[in-house]
Amino acid sequence: MAGTSETGIASGSSPLGPIETIHAPVLLDECVALVTPALDGPDPWVVDCTLGLAGHACAFLKAAPAAHLIGIDRDQEALGLASERMAREGLGDRFVPVHAAFDQLEDILKDRGLKRVSAVFMDLGLSSLQIDERSRGFSYSQDAPLDMRMDPSQSLTAAQILADYSEEDLARIFQDYGEEHHARRIARALAQARQRQPVRTSAQLDRLVDQAVPRAHRAPGNPAKRVFQALRIEVNGELDKLVRTLPQAVARLRVGGRLVVESYHSLEDRSVKRFMASGLQAKLPQGLPVVPQSARPVFLDLTHGARKADADQVAANPRSASVRLRAVEVSRPIPAERIERWREESSQPVYRANMHPSRRR
Ligand SMILES: C[S@@+](CC[C@H](N)C(=O)[O-])C[C@H]1O[C@@H](n2cnc3c(N)ncnc32)[C@H](O)[C@@H]1O
Repeated sequence: MAGTSETGIASGSSPLGPIETIHAPVLLDECVALVTPALDGPDPWVVDCTLGLAGHACAFLKAAPAAHLIGIDRDQEALGLASERMAREGLGDRFVPVHAAFDQLEDILKDRGLKRVSAVFMDLGLSSLQIDERSRGFSYSQDAPLDMRMDPSQSLTAAQILADYSEEDLARIFQDYGEEHHARRIARALAQARQRQPVRTSAQLDRLVDQAVPRAHRAPGNPAKRVFQALRIEVNGELDKLVRTLPQAVARLRVGGRLVVESYHSLEDRSVKRFMASGLQAKLPQGLPVVPQSARPVFLDLTHGARKADADQVAANPRSASVRLRAVEVSRPIPAERIERWREESSQPVYRANMHPSRRR
């Protein structure tokens, strides 16, 4: 696994073209409007947990000239391109790139002596760089080896899961992470197919799923899309990492600090929604004329549920079609017991499927 060291890796432009044009940041203006009011205090730090190609990160630094930004990404290639972009835009001296998974957030801040930050931002999922790079095997529409690692230095790949997991565990992943109705049928077909020949490429997998799911009983959309999503979530431990990171983020936010999260599928959004809702509830003792500070919610809701992209935004940037943007502000000091409870809850795997040895890191 990647360490938390600052990185000076990779340079140059991507073979996909100038990086500003590879990935269009989703709901950019809304995110800037939600993050930057928190960056007006002395020495404000913002953490972008999903730096990608730094579209959001550059905009935050430009809108808040006193702010510094820690940009975390598991993907060295993205970090290299983002660092170069920051330097080119004259923002390099306010930017710290970190190669790590974002669930190491507290260690990353501790290593840099930062007790509190003003904002934490997450734009979950993949960047267009990752989706469009054929060799990474994220897309069912392009034939490539079934890799799907956001961090290529990690050992577990999608092909390994298809080779090693039991039929039951494959079915559970497709059901839990893909919400696929024909999970059992697909898992059975894959288990049979791998006895004849290993399933190593996206075209092979696409074909096997297509053959396994009867046309008459298909849910809308290509079933391979849900199977690919499920594998990607399992390879990268996406939901567990998200759930572990949310309490770490608010534990490090100052009062008035903001947590802003963009999710792209219902499982992510459900986790974010549940977490934020738990800090928005008040425990109101009956009959008191004044609500004591200790009973007030620890969060203030900034988005009032999830914001979505409107038709114009979707037309301009199709990636925004499924986005759910949620944000809260820390409204009072969060009691240590509350943080501890969140941590305990988040230490349980989101689903039971995570049994591969490399998951126990
Ligand atoms: C949607 S992209 C971010 C795009 C970025 N906001 C921009 O405007 O360019 C998500 C990025 O987060 C990274 N990522 C996803 N999960 C991660 C995790 N658990 N830890 C660290 N980085 C992660 C991916 O590698 C990817 O580069």
